[in-house]
Amino acid sequence: MNLFSVKDKTVLITGASRGIGRALAEGFADAGAIVYGTGTRSESIAWTAGSAIKGLVVDLRSESAMKDAMAAIHQEHGRLDCLLNNAAMALDVPASAIKEADLDSLVDTNFKGLFRACQAYYKLQRKEGGNIINVASVVGLVGGYLMSAYAGTKGAVIQISKSLALEWARSGFRVNALCPGFTETDMTAKIRQNSDYSDKLIESIPLRRMARPDEMLGPAIFLASEASSYITGTSIVVDGGVSRH
Ligand SMILES: NC(=O)c1ccc[n+]([C@@H]2O[C@H](COP(=O)([O-])OP(=O)(O)OC[C@H]3O[C@@H](n4cnc5c(N)ncnc54)[C@H](OP(=O)(O)O)[C@@H]3O)[C@@H](O)[C@H]2O)c1
Repeated sequence: MNLFSVKDKTVLITGASRGIGRALAEGFADAGAIVYGTGTRSESIAWTAGSAIKGLVVDLRSESAMKDAMAAIHQEHGRLDCLLNNAAMALDVPASAIKEADLDSLVDTNFKGLFRACQAYYKLQRKEGGNIINVASVVGLVGGYLMSAYAGTKGAVIQISKSLALEWARSGFRVNALCPGFTETDMTAKIRQNSDYSDKLIESIPLRRMARPDEMLGPAIFLASEASSYITGTSIVVDGGVSRH
């Protein structure tokens, strides 16, 4: 038996149009999983056409979108083995300048959207049990410069994961968080373009570089597989040693 196998597992990965989510979708598909990946627009998920990954359009700010997507997958396969809540938006502006509409969008996506997805998944898989991996962030543990509201939502994702692990363990659910550190995606493009700032940032990372998106794959496969069967309510930190958490 390959403890780390995700072969034939049905996995739904949100935010698979680019960045970490796309690397996860491609990696899980290469490992033999049946992968559904979401983007907010049909154009952003168009890259999945002709691949093994089934692209879906989902905006987490919609109350019913994730519920409908999961119900369709469940109908097709009779189960959804793993929900990987990866999609999120960032907001890297000074706290005093954050606008109400941006705050709403952030909370609707990163907090409410993820929470609703967990709720809908639990209801769908209540009989079979399930596995939820919530992508949080190292800044949800240690905070981040110009990231107050975003870091707040990510701290919430960690606490949601711990609390759901506790609440749903007896129904056969595992719930864990994955906390990436600074990773080379669109989310960090602004930082990487500012060479003074990014040089200083990289000096503060013990491994002296940002992560590649595909470096989140191993820990995610670990959490999705039998190799982590006794792990729930924890956070796996993949941050190059920044937090030493
Ligand atoms: N990059 C980092 O340094 C870093 C560090 C720590 C944690 N993280 C976390 O890792 C995860 C992936 O980050 P990333 O860097 O890969 O992000 P990214 O490149 O900015 O991609 C964000 C993804 O989320 C989707 N998304 C955004 N708003 C959404 C909404 N309202 N509803 C549904 N989907 C939405 C986007 O879809 P569209 O393409 O359609 O817009 C896209 O697929 C996020 O949870 C992020 O907070 C990232």
